[in-house]
Amino acid sequence: MVANSVALAWKAAGPRARALPSFRCAQRPSILRNHAVAPRHGAVRYASETTTTKAADTASATIEAAAETVKEAPKKAGRGARRIVLGTSLALTLLVGYVYGTDTRASAHRYGVVPLIRLLCPDAEDAHHLGVDTLKTLYQYGLHPRERGNPDGDGALTTEVFGYTLANPIGISGGLDKHAEVPDPLFEIGPAIVEVGGTTPLPQDGNPRPRVFRLPSQKAMINRYGLNSKGADHMAAILEQRVRDFAYAQGFGLHEQAVERVLNGDASVPPGSLVPGKLLAVQVAKNKATPDSDIEAVKRDYVYCVDRLAKYADILVVNVSSPNTPGLRDLQATAPLTAILKAVVGAAKGVDRATKPFVMVKVSPDEDADEQVSGICEAVWGSGVDGVIVGNTTNRRPEPLPQGFTLPQKEQTTLQETGGYSGPQLFDRTVALVARYRALLDETPVTPEQAGEAQAETARVVHAEPDAENVPPVNPPSVAAQFPRKVLFASGGITNGAQAQAALNAGASVAMMYTGVVYGGMGTVTRVKQEMREERQLKKD
Ligand SMILES: Cc1cc2nc3c(=O)[nH]c(=O)nc-3n(C[C@H](O)[C@H](O)[C@H](O)COP(=O)(O)O)c2cc1C
Repeated sequence: MVANSVALAWKAAGPRARALPSFRCAQRPSILRNHAVAPRHGAVRYASETTTTKAADTASATIEAAAETVKEAPKKAGRGARRIVLGTSLALTLLVGYVYGTDTRASAHRYGVVPLIRLLCPDAEDAHHLGVDTLKTLYQYGLHPRERGNPDGDGALTTEVFGYTLANPIGISGGLDKHAEVPDPLFEIGPAIVEVGGTTPLPQDGNPRPRVFRLPSQKAMINRYGLNSKGADHMAAILEQRVRDFAYAQGFGLHEQAVERVLNGDASVPPGSLVPGKLLAVQVAKNKATPDSDIEAVKRDYVYCVDRLAKYADILVVNVSSPNTPGLRDLQATAPLTAILKAVVGAAKGVDRATKPFVMVKVSPDEDADEQVSGICEAVWGSGVDGVIVGNTTNRRPEPLPQGFTLPQKEQTTLQETGGYSGPQLFDRTVALVARYRALLDETPVTPEQAGEAQAETARVVHAEPDAENVPPVNPPSVAAQFPRKVLFASGGITNGAQAQAALNAGASVAMMYTGVVYGGMGTVTRVKQEMREERQLKKD
């Protein structure tokens, strides 16, 4: 009876109650084992004959089960504890991994991720797609690499560009984010300028694959993408959606005016970058099929892109220097360039937005004869564009570095590929060319039109208040002083802080990078900026 009652009570108590002593016994298993044996004798001694046997059986079965449960209990509890330890370790590992892996200072970006991508993608274009897609996905889930601790906050690298105070003088060059898929994650790795594109008016495939090649010993690349583009309409839709999302997140709502309000400065951020202290450049180009000889058609191509995209850009970049669109570089001759740039400047000024985007032209490092450089400067002054990006990839094949180094056989073959060469070997020529552009652009405007305007302005100032007494002598402003200084960005072979600083010393306001980021990974911009800070500090000491 007693045994029966024990068994019934045990059953009635349910699994939860049964689990409790089991948990306790995990701490004191020996006590429970003794306790479990005791009722057995009692059951046999007091029960009637028939019921005694049955009850004894039931009781003994139940008690055995209980004893079994009790025996199992320490094991279960052990497993539970192990699970807790494992779970906690896993959570901690994930947290540390997240904090480390998403910090641009982590050396894993350079020494782990870059070699891994190279291993996974022998084709450099596949690697490019993998990199962009991964960054895009990570950003969507908040798992993207980013600068922690606001390194620009000390103001050591701030710089003035187009009247904006930028957080630092580093930019990401055109072509890395061809379709404007990842401007925001790119801003997060630290540059103050991200250039997206180049885009063409109509979608075009570019050249057949393979069209991107690596020269690992040189940390260089050769590409002949040929301005593959999804078209200006596609990019405009992406950039508009980006502003829409931003407007919504900032509490401007979902209606059409929300976008307009952000674009017109109500959010107190530049309308292109949407990030204080940063600017978004959008690069535009012509379609391959548009004949270079038909300047009106070429102008229409650029203007089409500007009409679609200017609203979403802080800076528009006119690409006339890609080596992979036949005839494009011929447009750098003074007359066609002036015509194209004038058309772009006109279209940019017409954009329906409170502030208009600035216009820059990206020039080639190969058109470097004196007359070519001065011709381009003439077009810059004559058209009213605001600045020049010097330069792009080169058709030349620079000497390997370090001097005297012989390229491995495979790379010697790669060197024969048609396309634009990029990487550290471009650096010396970039700096020299920046200095030449700086000197020429700082001279007085050279076109008769500009000179005429300048003279008229000088005369107006000199003749102000001619009859007034005690008028202090008026110094006529220099002709050049009446025109804002043209802004230069340097692009070509910049991979470290000393080089970025040298480009700035030569007269550039921003040092841009592409190939350096491909080989250096997501921490490159942070590293270069840190090196610049150290370089500047050393100079001060
Ligand atoms: C794969 C690849 C694609 C590029 N695509 C473009 C482009 O679409 N438009 C452009 O103006 N420059 C493009 N560039 C040139 C870069 O923007 C940059 O001017 C050039 O590579 C020199 O800088 P770097 O030595 O830092 O790479 C491309 C470069 C590479 C390597």
